[in-house]
Amino acid sequence: MKNLEIVTRISAYKYEELNSEDKALIDKAKEATNLSYSPYSHFAVGAAVLLEDGKIFTGANQENAAYPSGLCAERTAMFYANAQCPNTAVKSIAIACFTGGHFTSKPGSPCGNCRQVLLETEHRFRHPMRIMLYGTEEIYVFESAESLLPHSFVDDDLNG
Ligand code: THU
Repeated sequence: MKNLEIVTRISAYKYEELNSEDKALIDKAKEATNLSYSPYSHFAVGAAVLLEDGKIFTGANQENAAYPSGLCAERTAMFYANAQCPNTAVKSIAIACFTGGHFTSKPGSPCGNCRQVLLETEHRFRHPMRIMLYGTEEIYVFESAESLLPHSFVDDDLNG
């Protein structure tokens, strides 16, 4: 028997410490919370996706009376970007959450389904994706979707 260990590297930033490209993407994700349709949870999530060519696509969570039919902000924005630009790699994504009249103090955390989709996008374009999770106190930055979903099921696993 042997024990294996998985290490996740997260950089915690203050907003002021980020470069102007990262700040701008976070601003877009915060703005995108206004696009949220969340009458059930009252939890508005905004996401902004930056492509390698500089284009930015935003999205927000879209809820449904049949709860599982809704979609998270990350997948709304990512599928939108990928559907519009299927040949352009994703450079980074920023996510912000707004509830109770303010942005959350802790960084929002993508759900498991969204992590799987972010990872697929990273593999699809063979390009690491910078993931920024906004909180008013600190911002978590991951350099790759693999750090958010280690030991995952990916394209290669289908080959046995
Ligand atoms: N939500 C997102 O949009 N992204 C996440 O990463 C977590 C959760 C949405 C789904 C639902 O509309 C609301 O937040 C509450 O779970």
